[in-house]
Parts: sequence; C-alpha cells; structure tokens
Amino acid sequence: MSSVNQRRTLQIFVIVVLFGLTNPASAVDWSSVPGKDIVLFYPAQLSWEMVLTQDEHSGAKKFREGKDCRQCHEGEERASGMLLVADAFSDSAPIENKPGFIEATVKAAHDGENLQINVAFTPGEQPDAEMDKQFPAKVAVMFDDGGVSDARRAGCWATCHDNLARMPSGETAETTKYLARSRSQMTRRGGTEPKSAEVLESLRESGSYLEYWQARLRPDSAPDVIDGFILEERTQSAAPMVVAEASQENGKWSVIFSRPMQPGGLYKDFSPGKTYTVGVSVHAGHTAQRFHYVSLEKTLVIDEGSADFIAARDDDP
Ligand code: HEC
Repeated sequence: MSSVNQRRTLQIFVIVVLFGLTNPASAVDWSSVPGKDIVLFYPAQLSWEMVLTQDEHSGAKKFREGKDCRQCHEGEERASGMLLVADAFSDSAPIENKPGFIEATVKAAHDGENLQINVAFTPGEQPDAEMDKQFPAKVAVMFDDGGVSDARRAGCWATCHDNLARMPSGETAETTKYLARSRSQMTRRGGTEPKSAEVLESLRESGSYLEYWQARLRPDSAPDVIDGFILEERTQSAAPMVVAEASQENGKWSVIFSRPMQPGGLYKDFSPGKTYTVGVSVHAGHTAQRFHYVSLEKTLVIDEGSADFIAARDDDP
C-alpha cells in the first residue's frame, strides 16, 4: 500500500472513531422509543423556603408530613405557570408576554454503555429577554440517585433557594444552586454558611449531591455542553463526560444527551434496579439564571420498572 493510501486509510479511521465518540446518540432509532410528555412551567421566585412556609403556601404542612409536590401539582402545571408568569407578587421582574409553560417530550435509551436522554420541545412565541445574548435556548437535566430525599420529593426545588442570584433574598448575589443539607442552618431567607469542608466531603462520599447536564443551543451550530454537581454550590466539571447533539426543525428542538453509564468519579452510576429522580429545565427566549421553565420531580429507571422515563436497551442493530 502506498503511503498516500495509508494516510488516507488512517484519516478515514480517525474520522470514524471521532464520529463514533462524539455521536454515540446516532445509534438509537428514536422513532421506535416511546416518549413521555411533560409540562415545564415558569416558577417565578417561589423558593424552597417559601413553599415550605405554611403562611405563604397552603401545601407546606402536607409536604412536611410526607406528601410530595407532584402529588398535589401534577396536571396543574399549565395553570400554575400562567398564574406565576404574570403575577407581580410572585416575581419582582416579570418578562412581558412570556408564555407560562412549555411542553416537552422526553425519551431515554441505553446500549449497555451510554445512557441517552432525548428532550424535544418547542419554545413557542418567546419575547427576547436579552439576558443570554449567545444562546436563545438551553436545556438541562438534573439527577438524584437516591442520596437526596429533598430532590426525590421536590425535584428542582431542592436546589432553589431564596438567596440564590436574582431570587428575593439573593438580590445581586452570585450564589448558585445548593442543597439545604450543605448549610449550617436554614432560614426563611435561605441557607446560612456552608458546613465544614469535612462534612461536605463526607456528604459527597455518601452520594449526597446531584448531577446536572446542560446543552446550550443556538441555530446552525453544535450545542455547548456542560455537566457538573450540586452540593454546597453548582460546580461545573472542567471536562464534561456528557455530550449532546441538537437539531431544530419548524421551531422544535430535539436535544440528545449521552454519557457513559458508569464513568466513575462523582458521576452517578446508571444501573438497573434503581430509581433516579430527574428534574428538567428549559431556558427559552434568551433568558438566564432563574428565568427558566421547570418540571416537577420525575423518575427514571434503566431497562424496566415503573417510572416516567424508562431507558430500555436499544443496541445498534
Ligand atoms: C397538599 C398539597 C400540596 C403540596 C404537597 C404542595 N403544594 Fe404547592 N400548592 C398547593 C396549593 C393548594 C396551592 C395554591 C394555594 C397556595 O399558594 O397556597 C399551591 C401553590 C403552589 C405554587 C404557586 C402556583 C399555583 O398553582 O398556585 C407553586 C409554585 C407550588 N405550590 C409549588 C409546590 C412545590 C415546589 C411543592 C413541593 C415542595 C408543593 N407545591 C407542594 C398545594 C400543595
């Protein structure tokens, strides 16, 4: 074989390998995977602390007694979003003409090596909030694998505190998402200082944190993808394990996340027999920070079981 041919063969080999690495999602035939329709609604500034305060939220006592958010709110997301998006009591900086909710279809699959989550949604008629100039839309998923009961019972709200950036007690602070268990004390205005480094480390060792993935979307180019963990703050990984593909057709985005099921480190293991809690969020209309749509707490299982999202095995035919 001539050296030109050898080089050509090597080039093709490299392209195939790179394509295989960056596009593990391409193996799944998504048209044969059943989807789950969910509604993401605008939560305004209703923090964890607020929904746990009976004077301000009539579900607080029942939640403390053991009733989960979805048990009262599932099916009401559209109405809640429409109410909150236009309510000056719930939001100090409402965005005019913003839709109160969006609908999404979520599918999951795996091939024994990678877990894939496909989120499809149409942002609809969104006013341009001009907060994030670069990305018109962003989609994120957040996971608990049983270590964080607040997340199992309240999904995204486990991380949504009154003193985060742009929340009522946060004002101009840059505080990112955290879990109540990471704080020395919790008050109506959010958590006080983080617990000691040793305590945080032992929480991490016991799996007491969440993992998140986010794809930042813009038309005509590949998404920017990040992942990371939430305990005393939102910590972004230096090099994400998750990859994503995104495409938009007639306004509808389809985003396919993929990551190895057991990559080690702080990443959660995805394995059969466990139930994962999943929170889904979408930023639409060039928004940032809290100005997103969120789901109630949803569940995921691998292979089979009873959950909102079932990642069945789908090997490359
Ligand atoms: C026992 C049932 C119950 C539980 C559990 C419950 N809620 Fe509510 N929630 C209500 C009711 C009733 C309202 C409307 C009246 C009010 O605001 O007090 C409401 C209002 C809200 C609203 C304002 C939008 C609207 O539709 O009025 C949000 C947001 C909300 N709840 C979030 C949550 C979250 C998050 C949890 C879990 C941490 C939760 N709720 C748990 C009953 C419940």
